[in-house]
Amino acid sequence: MGNNDAPAAATRPCLTLVLAAGEGKRMRSALPKVLHHVAGRAMLAHVLDAAPRGRDDDVAVIVGPDRGDVAAAAQASRPGARIFTQAERRGTAHAVLAARAAIEAARGDVIIAYGDMPLILPETLSRLQARRAQGAALVVLGFHAADPTGYGRLLQKDDQLVAIREERDATAAERAVSLCNSGLMAFDGAVILSLLDAIGNANSQGEFYLTDAVEIAVARGLSCAVELAGEAEVKGVNDRVQLAEAEALMQERLRRAAMLAGATLVDPPSVHLSFDSKIGADVIIEPQVYIGPGVSIEGGAIIHASSNLEGVKIGAGVHVGPFARLRPGAVLEKGAKVGNFVEVKAARIGAGAKVSHLSYIGDADIGADANIGAGVITCNYDGFLKYRTTVGAGAFVGSNSALVAPVTIGAGAYVGSGSVITRDVGADALALERSQQLEKPGWAQSFRARRLAMKAKGRS
Ligand code: UD1
Ligand code: CA
Repeated sequence: MGNNDAPAAATRPCLTLVLAAGEGKRMRSALPKVLHHVAGRAMLAHVLDAAPRGRDDDVAVIVGPDRGDVAAAAQASRPGARIFTQAERRGTAHAVLAARAAIEAARGDVIIAYGDMPLILPETLSRLQARRAQGAALVVLGFHAADPTGYGRLLQKDDQLVAIREERDATAAERAVSLCNSGLMAFDGAVILSLLDAIGNANSQGEFYLTDAVEIAVARGLSCAVELAGEAEVKGVNDRVQLAEAEALMQERLRRAAMLAGATLVDPPSVHLSFDSKIGADVIIEPQVYIGPGVSIEGGAIIHASSNLEGVKIGAGVHVGPFARLRPGAVLEKGAKVGNFVEVKAARIGAGAKVSHLSYIGDADIGADANIGAGVITCNYDGFLKYRTTVGAGAFVGSNSALVAPVTIGAGAYVGSGSVITRDVGADALALERSQQLEKPGWAQSFRARRLAMKAKGRS
């Protein structure tokens, strides 16, 4: 970027308004468009996260009527965000004016962002502000679109921005322009209201277009500037196809960051990450791995193929999978191993402990170096309430045992295979819960002989 003004600009007072009142009809969804997820969180949260943070002015979000869900999502990701309601959906300029009180009180720049551009980066917002600081009344973030269909076109004359034309209102010649409006704009706070108040709705949709602010500013002799961004970063989402495209771009960005931070992704396109995935150096992630929100993986861990993780903490050198399912609240401490077809939920697997095959470990605490045999199940639920299972350090739980919670297996204890354990087991004891083995020597041989004789007599 190399713009010396950027750091100074970022500390100027600034109000960011995020428009989130559109219905998003083309999503064909009961959920408001801006609450649809990209990389595990609402698009609106991504935009709010990119908005400048300062003590002054800060952030306001414009929501549709009765959209407590959008307001709550906004405040969850940006506590202190002010909420304004646009009573009727009458266009982007009309939406901005719903926050008139905040704009009147703002002392610096006013940045307008749309809630449906989840890929926008904070650096770009600072760049926009830095450009604004050079004096233009209004700076528009533009981009060259490979396919400009649906975007407003930036019309220039003698290298000056003179208008933004929405596609529906554009002439054929204007549609041929590939320089498009991203939707991000930075206004001089001193002029924004007088520009917006002058915007009319004489267009094909009868809406008040924010984009008309450019023509009005130019007519008043104010200068408007264009700052450029890459197309991938400013992708707008109007339908589910664009939602999937935005997701793909975000995944590429997240995977790239993980790899540059030292993780090996054996087959990057088949690994799905989340906005907050924390992946340490020398972590290896094999193909077909899904990492949902709230996952941290420390250095040197291996996530084998086809594993599914969400809300889990994985310590250094842990082995997971293949085909493991780690659900929220799973904590795998240093050097632990969770193998194939194992599900872990709300459970700590202590350092060096092994749960290698075909188990369900839920609401449990497994001590360090314990060994949980194949097919062991914690029976944590009685149809009404959940109960905890505790297994002490170094204990050995034989294959196919059921641990009926609440129950504690003491440190160093053994549980014989196939036991259904309903009472606590003392440290270093052996617990066996199965009937004694009976053996009848030669029984099988005489059984076969009797049956063969019956068959020979014609009985089937
Ligand atoms: C808008 C721009 C277009 C730009 C494109 C970039 C206008 C008129 N057009 O078009 O120049 O190229 O974004 O993606 O601004 N919203 C409200 N209230 C309203 C209308 C919209 O809050 O009354 C919100 C929507 O939730 C959305 C944003 O404003 O987050 C943009 O609206 P949308 O309908 O998606 O505009 P586009 O047609 O994509
Ligand atoms: Ca849009």
